Amino acid sequence: MFLDTLTYGDLLMNLNGRDILTLQELSSSEILALIDKCFELKREWIERKRCRKELEGKSVLMFFEKPSTRTRLAFEVAAASLGAHTIYASTVDLQLARGETLSDTARVFSKMVDCVVARVKSHSTVEELAKYCDIPVINGLSDLHHPTQALTDVFTMFEVKGRRRLKIAFIGDGGVNTCHSLMVCCSKLGLDMTIACPPQFKPRDEVWRLVMKNCESSGSKIEVIEDPVIAVRDADVIYTDVFVSMGFEHEREERLRSFLPKYQINKELVSRAPEDYVFMHCLPAKRGEEVTDEVIDDPKHSIVWIQSENKLHMARAILYMVV
Ligand code: CP
Ligand code: NVA
Repeated sequence: MFLDTLTYGDLLMNLNGRDILTLQELSSSEILALIDKCFELKREWIERKRCRKELEGKSVLMFFEKPSTRTRLAFEVAAASLGAHTIYASTVDLQLARGETLSDTARVFSKMVDCVVARVKSHSTVEELAKYCDIPVINGLSDLHHPTQALTDVFTMFEVKGRRRLKIAFIGDGGVNTCHSLMVCCSKLGLDMTIACPPQFKPRDEVWRLVMKNCESSGSKIEVIEDPVIAVRDADVIYTDVFVSMGFEHEREERLRSFLPKYQINKELVSRAPEDYVFMHCLPAKRGEEVTDEVIDDPKHSIVWIQSENKLHMARAILYMVV
């Protein structure tokens, strides 16, 4: 759970110029270095020493194929607070919309900006961007992974629950970007996770294989079960995401039939959790579907607003380390 023999300076150098596509490409020490930097930058932010100009004169391109509130705001404010300039470009605004190839577009990005934050429909798009860009590419969400969210989430868990071997119950869609990235992150850091989901919404095989391999070295215990009550009963953290993610709207009816009522986080389900559990959600939430108002608005257990603010602090840590 703590940095190993590499010095902080080594890690800083290691991360400079790197892509963050899945978190699998980072070592546990590199992930912990990002988390440590986030603690440092959040402390500074709270003390109002907000401005560091380490990225003065640099530009960050926000390449977004899907809507975003938190990720977009976090990276735009983070870049500005470090002295960098951001350019927001949805794909419809670029010549891509008229048929220019992604590889040609990526080569242009490399010549003009210092980093790309990309939110894409298909994970292969962010991989292709990374292949043709010689600047860091940060995955701001794809259909398969949401690495900046998982970094934020684990930072938030350590901040609120302490830096120790935590047990996370992820309830709902196990095959979703947020669950995949949280599994990768937890399995690298030695944290435990139980995913409770319907059998047809299990984590994707290609992600599961990586996670199992990570568990062999880290000692994490990550399991998939069907019963949410068993998952929450010894959980430090109860986590959920929407049942219908962006791009899956055509499956809405079928998904709701599979998830409801069994996988909703409601008063009845959390009454089976330990007294000191915390509730987390990447947001945006579909209140009344995956979570009820009384759970998400419960001031004693819900930490979703701390989690959402922490996206900004983690975005600052990421830009600081990689750009
Ligand atoms: N959690 C998250 O990524 O939120 P946005 O979709 O608003 O960016
Ligand atoms: N799983 C959700 C996450 C949104 C931040 C989606 O992909 O829509």
